[in-house]
Amino acid sequence: MHHRHTQFLPGQTWTDTHGQPIHAHGGGVLYHEGTYWWFGEHKVAGPDGNRAMVGVHVYASEDLLNWRDAGIALSVDERPDSEIEKGCIIERPKVLYNARTHRFVMWFHLEPKSAGMSYDGARSGVAVAERPEGPYRFLHSLRPNAGMWPENVQEADKAPLSAPEQVELARLELGGAPVPWYPRNRVYRRDLVSGQMARDMTLFLDVDGRAYHLYASENNGTLHVSLLDATFTRPAGRYVRVFPGRFHEAPALMRWNDRYWLFSSDCTGWAPNTARLSSAPQLWGPWTEHGNPCLGTGAQIANSFASQPTFVLPVQGRGDAFVYMADRWCPQNPIDGRYVWLPVRFRHGLPILEWCDAWSLDVFASAGAVVDE
Ligand code: DGJ
Repeated sequence: MHHRHTQFLPGQTWTDTHGQPIHAHGGGVLYHEGTYWWFGEHKVAGPDGNRAMVGVHVYASEDLLNWRDAGIALSVDERPDSEIEKGCIIERPKVLYNARTHRFVMWFHLEPKSAGMSYDGARSGVAVAERPEGPYRFLHSLRPNAGMWPENVQEADKAPLSAPEQVELARLELGGAPVPWYPRNRVYRRDLVSGQMARDMTLFLDVDGRAYHLYASENNGTLHVSLLDATFTRPAGRYVRVFPGRFHEAPALMRWNDRYWLFSSDCTGWAPNTARLSSAPQLWGPWTEHGNPCLGTGAQIANSFASQPTFVLPVQGRGDAFVYMADRWCPQNPIDGRYVWLPVRFRHGLPILEWCDAWSLDVFASAGAVVDE
């Protein structure tokens, strides 16, 4: 019998209840009827280890420290005509429970094998299950909001690109990395018909039961906050553009103190970078950037404890208690990527992050929120 974990050890190798390393990178956690379900990418060894050779792994826990291996929630497909064919890229899976349909709905960033390792696919995959652990059935992939204009652009900017504009935009050779010549009002117009690009992503269930998909769009330059339909399996067709040209990746959302708080990363591939905190009174905005939420030494601040965010997990039964979840990627051997979970603390009305070598949920104990004014 494996010994019980009593503390979170950010950055160390985490094992499940059988002593096996946990494979749940770029993860998210669903709480359902007394159990936490942690979904994440199952990565493999070697430089190609970010390709989906297995699928989305899921683990179950009641205490957030001891995780039972609940198996592969969504398996890749051996069939070469499948959009989730073995060897494709599946990143940042997130799952919500839909109380109307009684279904569990998984979204993830999908790069079909046909799109290669280029990340040009920039699609969203959707899968559903009757039970939290799955098996999830792949429904479809899409680029969100095809044919729909963002709600927060001027009427004059709701126009498909003209032929000369298309030529000009193609010449800019936008990949996914920040460039100073990023055209802030072109890319969503280019993608009106095909649907908007969607790479790093998260899902968020709001207090009114509406669900949102937040994704890095427009060649990573702009975030979109997009409402899902009542089944949570498609975009509802209403979305806003957030921070055009600021290149936020790795979005993770929480609601606290009547505001929505967004943790995100800068845009530097797998390398860690300086994290960002933003907030808004409504998911539709207006959004404000607050800067870097990490406190600590120069290096800790600069590279956000050597990690990029993936999710913020509300701890059940403890008011204002949130676990910040991040990944320390290991691109040369992705299977060895590490998990960096830290308690969200609050100072001067802002959620902030400080390094802990080891910690437990006791930090949230009495009052709930860790308020160190
Ligand atoms: C950074 C993202 O956070 C990851 O999910 C992954 O998409 C890499 N970029 C790919 O370079």
